[in-house]
Amino acid sequence: MQKIEFYQKAFREYLEAFATKKEPKSLYEPINYILMLGGKRLRPVLTLMTADIFEGNYQKAMDAALSVEVFHNFSLVHDDIMDDAPLRRGKETVHEKWDVNTGILSGDAMLIMAYQLFENYEPKTFQSLAKLFSRTALEVCEGQQYDVDFEVRDDVTIEEYLKMIEYKTAVLVAAAMKMGAIVAGATEANRDLIYGFGKNLGIAFQLQDDYLDAFGDEATFGKQIGGDIIENKKTFLYLKALEFSNDDDKLQLEHLYGISPSDSRQKIETVKHLFVSSGSAEATQMAIKTYTDKAFSVLDTLSISDDNKLMLRKFGEQLMNRNV
Ligand code: IPE
Ligand code: IPE
Ligand code: MG
Ligand code: MG
Ligand code: MG
Repeated sequence: MQKIEFYQKAFREYLEAFATKKEPKSLYEPINYILMLGGKRLRPVLTLMTADIFEGNYQKAMDAALSVEVFHNFSLVHDDIMDDAPLRRGKETVHEKWDVNTGILSGDAMLIMAYQLFENYEPKTFQSLAKLFSRTALEVCEGQQYDVDFEVRDDVTIEEYLKMIEYKTAVLVAAAMKMGAIVAGATEANRDLIYGFGKNLGIAFQLQDDYLDAFGDEATFGKQIGGDIIENKKTFLYLKALEFSNDDDKLQLEHLYGISPSDSRQKIETVKHLFVSSGSAEATQMAIKTYTDKAFSVLDTLSISDDNKLMLRKFGEQLMNRNV
């Protein structure tokens, strides 16, 4: 297996060749804009790495990796419309730079492109990839709908929240890895084990995303800080803060999550203060570690080389300590 940077570079080159100019410009320019805006390219790198780990050839996994990244970017374009987000990767979101209709249709086209990329595989691999992809994509929709439904509910449980992030985020990370395993022809058992690794890593990843949404730095995180608070997202931070707070603080928090002031700065500051003082910020950090460790425990059951296990561990640790 190669270093992470190696896969990043190889993937970037492949993506550049894919994001060529096509007509009509108003459909394809936003697609190329979001794809070339950067991002961590976490999912495609995992696909390529996993293919190599199971003794496949990362190059054969390139179209599967691209499919996952195109799907991910499609979901971001639509997610930013749904979350009314102004910033993505430090730049204007697609619906801000163009408009909502452009975001909808360019997003739709990306979803189709993601499927189309599987056509480059032979029938048996195609079928396995497409089957996994369809299930995953539907689960992402379900997760996204729960996320939106929860905004106006005041009885969301931690269990419901965890299911929601498993669907909206973790299953795609898991599927990205399983696709690498499929292309490499790994055994059914190994495909499932690596899926489990990716799923737990994905849950930790979304918990961290929620944490950074409140406590990150806009310059590195590239998204509007406090966006989840503005949108009244029922994150782990919020739910744990309610659980840990005294009656007065609980009332204040619930009140703040029922209003939408035109200037949200005060709301964000107060909520963040309550996240810290209640101990919820710390509990979130602990949960990130718990799910990362859960992912690592899957590695003990996998029959791959120690070098490869170490690499996956390093990857997980880097994610846990990220600020981007
Ligand atoms: C953002 O994903 C959406 C979530 C699931 C949290 P990433 O944090 O992987 O976004 P990019 O691709 O690196 O910008
Ligand atoms: C996004 O969750 C999950 C999907 C795009 C499917 P978020 O709404 O938390 O992602 P960001 O914070 O906008 O990247
Ligand atoms: Mg969002
Ligand atoms: Mg969202
Ligand atoms: Mg987020």
